Amino acid sequence: MKIKFKIKRYNPAEGEPAEPYFQAYTLDVEEGMSVLDALLKIADEQDTTLSFRRSCRSSICGSCAVNINGFARLSCATQVMPEYAKMGDMVIEPLSNHVPLKDLIVDFNPFWSRIEKVAPYLTPTSRRARRRGDVPARENDGARVTARDEEAIDKSQRCIMCGCCNSECNALEIDDRYIGPAALAKAWRLVGDVREGNSRKRLERLSEEHGMWNCVRCVHCTQYCPKSVSPLKQIESLRSRAMKEGVLDNPGAKHVEAMADSVKRVGRLDEAAMTFRTLGFLRSLGMIPFGLKMERHGKMPKPLLFPQIENIAEVRDIYEEAERLEKEDRERKKG
Ligand code: FES
Repeated sequence: MKIKFKIKRYNPAEGEPAEPYFQAYTLDVEEGMSVLDALLKIADEQDTTLSFRRSCRSSICGSCAVNINGFARLSCATQVMPEYAKMGDMVIEPLSNHVPLKDLIVDFNPFWSRIEKVAPYLTPTSRRARRRGDVPARENDGARVTARDEEAIDKSQRCIMCGCCNSECNALEIDDRYIGPAALAKAWRLVGDVREGNSRKRLERLSEEHGMWNCVRCVHCTQYCPKSVSPLKQIESLRSRAMKEGVLDNPGAKHVEAMADSVKRVGRLDEAAMTFRTLGFLRSLGMIPFGLKMERHGKMPKPLLFPQIENIAEVRDIYEEAERLEKEDRERKKG
């Protein structure tokens, strides 16, 4: 069966088109062929100048990630025929949120810089701190890492650094200083490790601007991760740990607290009050033009017209129950 592949080409060399463009190739494909097989066949038989990365051909090395029909995938793990049946002609482009170097090859230096920012190695508790008894004994003292301890970080260890999550990340698209889902998933691998000695410091750093609170929870990272790392789940674990450890002096944590208080107080979100709680008085003043624009479009919540919902007692019961369960959980862990 013949299928058309439209592949985005780009070559920064002199004499080549300055802008990326699509080039079409028609290829004989057969059942069981992966997109990577197709790219290799095109490069072998039709165009030796076509550039792309690959190595293991087994979903292990992460180097073959590209955009296939608009979404980030491993080309070695994507079958042509089912994809063609679903989408028609194949459109292959470099990963989004990455700078193309040549054809489907993108610059991975920014990706690695983000990973480096989370210090991607364990920094176990110092012997001195353990001797002082400041921290519980862990593996280095002869104590075991339990199966439950390992389970908490298991998914974050599956990452093959392919960049699919960063490519699909909506927050990264609007803020190229955002640390991104791949690095945050790696950060949870360390913060969630019971042997780690600098979790608190790590959480403080991750709570800074362009850090973990910048995630907009669009779920794309989790949807398109080819190894089920679930980066969003790891980001939520980081946020939750930060709140529990009292890393609260930042807009993200303040926003969560303001939201929870608002629902407890009136049973709904009082967005104007939340803005002041999240940003503080002075920074909230900077939101006035935005507020006026919302008002013009009839979208401004009216803080003074925020009556409690009728069954507020039921909402407060839920809070009480959640607090009780959390306390029980804390005591169980201590015991
Ligand atoms: Fe290694 Fe696809 S070639 S993951």
